[in-house]
Amino acid sequence: MAKRLLVIGSANIDFVLTIGTIPAAGVTLISDGTYSYVPGGKGANAAITAARLGGEVVFCTRIGDDAYGDRLARIYAENGIDRRFVKIDPMEQTGLAVVMVEKDGMNRIIVYPGANKNIGESDIEASFLTYPDIVLTNLEISPLSVEYLSRLAERNNLPLILDCGGVTPNFVLKNIRKTEILSPNENEAEFLTGIRPDSLDNCLKACIKLCNTANIKYVVLKLGSRGSYIYDGKYCDICGPYEVAAVDTTAAGDAFTAALALEYSRNGGDIHAACRFGNAAGALTVTKRGALNSLPTEEEVKKFMAEHTQI
Ligand code: RIB
Repeated sequence: MAKRLLVIGSANIDFVLTIGTIPAAGVTLISDGTYSYVPGGKGANAAITAARLGGEVVFCTRIGDDAYGDRLARIYAENGIDRRFVKIDPMEQTGLAVVMVEKDGMNRIIVYPGANKNIGESDIEASFLTYPDIVLTNLEISPLSVEYLSRLAERNNLPLILDCGGVTPNFVLKNIRKTEILSPNENEAEFLTGIRPDSLDNCLKACIKLCNTANIKYVVLKLGSRGSYIYDGKYCDICGPYEVAAVDTTAAGDAFTAALALEYSRNGGDIHAACRFGNAAGALTVTKRGALNSLPTEEEVKKFMAEHTQI
């Protein structure tokens, strides 16, 4: 039976600009790259990934009453997402992300949150009435809303997967009630702990610090081309990466966490198998440009895993 995933998170329109190198302050750079406006947002990317991977997805977000909002809502419907909780905010514009993609596929992102910052308690409470099996969120929405939804998840005995994408100084980890899986990337782990997970020793130190701060069952560090690192409060393990040629890393972390969450709920909580599935989904995402365009389907991930071995 398909698992129902409730994703509470951001919806953005991404202005994507490909560039050779980032200009220094005061420099005007004439780019020989391309630009486009494409759907994005960490919440939306995760929701679409989970739907493409066979999940039954309920998406709770806010968009503006504008052309970008209309376009995003249409795309969620086309991807089979339950969008009863995609609310049109009359006061704010649709969130916008300026995504600069460099030659090596690395990106730098600036987000104008717009309507995302108004995702509030009433939106969240209503979306919980859909009887989800698992809840996934990220930090591109208000930290108070994330605290609130963590209380609801605990009260309803639902596993909460917290992707640390978008973390800001206003986020207080110890205020999160109970997290089944906390998943930061390297920058986010360093931001939250002061420890850069650039060696196995530092991965462990960062994970221990996170688990000492809040009630977390698993920490899964997203290490990009180094794979993922699992810590369960006692033991640690590396889940090896799949080797691919990266053209654009945008949304790879969102795809990883969505695949991890869905597979974890489908396989009865096998964190290792869920990480393998997440690594494969993330690897496929970096092989294509853009956010939404690059998110893989279940068939693509299964075929890829059958044809490739982890390093
Ligand atoms: O993780 C990638 C996403 O971050 C982009 O789609 C952008 O909208 C920002 O939210």
